[in-house]
Amino acid sequence: MRERLGVGIVGSGFIAEFHTRAFRGVRDADVTAVSGRTPETVRRVCDLARELRVGDPTGYGDVREMVRDPLVDAVWVTTPNHVRLETVRAIVEEVSSGRAALRGIAVEKPLGRTVAEAAEVLALIEGAGLAHGYLENQVFAPGVTRAHELVWARGAAAAGAPYLARCAEEHSGPHRAWFWQGDKQGGGVLNDMMCHSVEAGRFLLTPPGTAKADWLTPVSVDATIACLKWSRPAYAARLRERYGPEVDYLRAPSEDYARATVTYRNGDGDEVVVEGTTSWSYVGAGLRLTFELLGPEYAMAVNSLDTEAKVFLSREISGTPGEDLVEKQNAEGGLMPVLSDEAGAYGYTEENRHMVRSFLDGTPPVESLHDGLAVTRVLMGAYLSAQEGRRVDLTSSDLDTFVPDVAGGNWRSGV
Ligand SMILES: NC(=O)c1ccc[n+]([C@@H]2O[C@H](COP(=O)([O-])OP(=O)(O)OC[C@H]3O[C@@H](n4cnc5c(N)ncnc54)[C@H](O)[C@@H]3O)[C@@H](O)[C@H]2O)c1
Repeated sequence: MRERLGVGIVGSGFIAEFHTRAFRGVRDADVTAVSGRTPETVRRVCDLARELRVGDPTGYGDVREMVRDPLVDAVWVTTPNHVRLETVRAIVEEVSSGRAALRGIAVEKPLGRTVAEAAEVLALIEGAGLAHGYLENQVFAPGVTRAHELVWARGAAAAGAPYLARCAEEHSGPHRAWFWQGDKQGGGVLNDMMCHSVEAGRFLLTPPGTAKADWLTPVSVDATIACLKWSRPAYAARLRERYGPEVDYLRAPSEDYARATVTYRNGDGDEVVVEGTTSWSYVGAGLRLTFELLGPEYAMAVNSLDTEAKVFLSREISGTPGEDLVEKQNAEGGLMPVLSDEAGAYGYTEENRHMVRSFLDGTPPVESLHDGLAVTRVLMGAYLSAQEGRRVDLTSSDLDTFVPDVAGGNWRSGV
């Protein structure tokens, strides 16, 4: 068995950089390759890896060439949602034909834009006999995992299992045009960020060491979506200016607000609930992640903006816009939270450490593409619920061929 894992990152954008930073905390892996469409961004990620001493990667323009590199043992798939399937197909074809040998593949959230797509990604990867991990960082965030461990050990052991998880991810809007386009991304904020909240909720309600699917059986979902901010004419105009005519929120908006209530039956036979709230219409200091877990005699809470470090900058200082204090930063003055290690705090470091160890040891990761598919089913149920204004039964509804109206470009908020 090799003692170190060579990791090839497919995609060289925002999240590829986050993963590269996260590999600083992984001692038995090297970033050996990066591939992407844009040579400058591929070079930037390779240079970052060298600067951080997490590897000396070779840059590739073609994912097929990258996976044939003998120094690549595993792949982190970070291409946008609309090229997820073609990226995975290309990798799997190389492996199945014997041109590439990989130990595993880790895929960014959300697994697919529909249940059909997510199921195909999973089937392709399992068909090629590859180990797989689902890159849902929030269930590896140290604040979340430690509080989860403690409330289960002290609270649930004494008073019974928790019954309510509240999870939210909110910021002022994504950083690239494709996220805003329903067809490319698969929807709006529900698909983009509720995937985190649904999975964080499943994680919190499940005892440590137990597979989520063994403990929680989905029962129903009830959801609402709306475009609260970005279809207002002045804000729609800003999106057009920033991203061009293909992002037209007067004609084809996606939701910038979503809430979902997901009901499960737990291993004790009790009804338990995940409440998820996500928005691209939240303007605070920056990205805000909140988690709560409530049980009969206990509770836990995490808020990513309750940072130990803060800076204050007076009105005499006019700062240039940046993201140096917190992801999706909205201000450069006043009292601002500072996250000293965002890759660590959001869970990317522990996530990468876990995936690397699982692939090296040949043990299945605790977060697999089966979890990604389970999340996609809940998300599609949520879109159906929001569209039809009814609670959707997750035990019987056929969501396999469902495509949300937002993804089809024919959704209107408030109608
Ligand atoms: N876990 C998280 O919190 C988190 C955060 C951000 C993004 N993501 C996920 O990561 C994925 C990428 O998001 P991002 O923010 O990095 O996007 P991005 O647009 O910043 O980067 C995507 C990269 O993929 C490359 N690319 C595009 N088409 C390609 C193709 N056909 N072949 C190869 N490369 C191609 C682009 O050039 C770019 O370098 C998405 O699925 C997104 O949902 C996850």
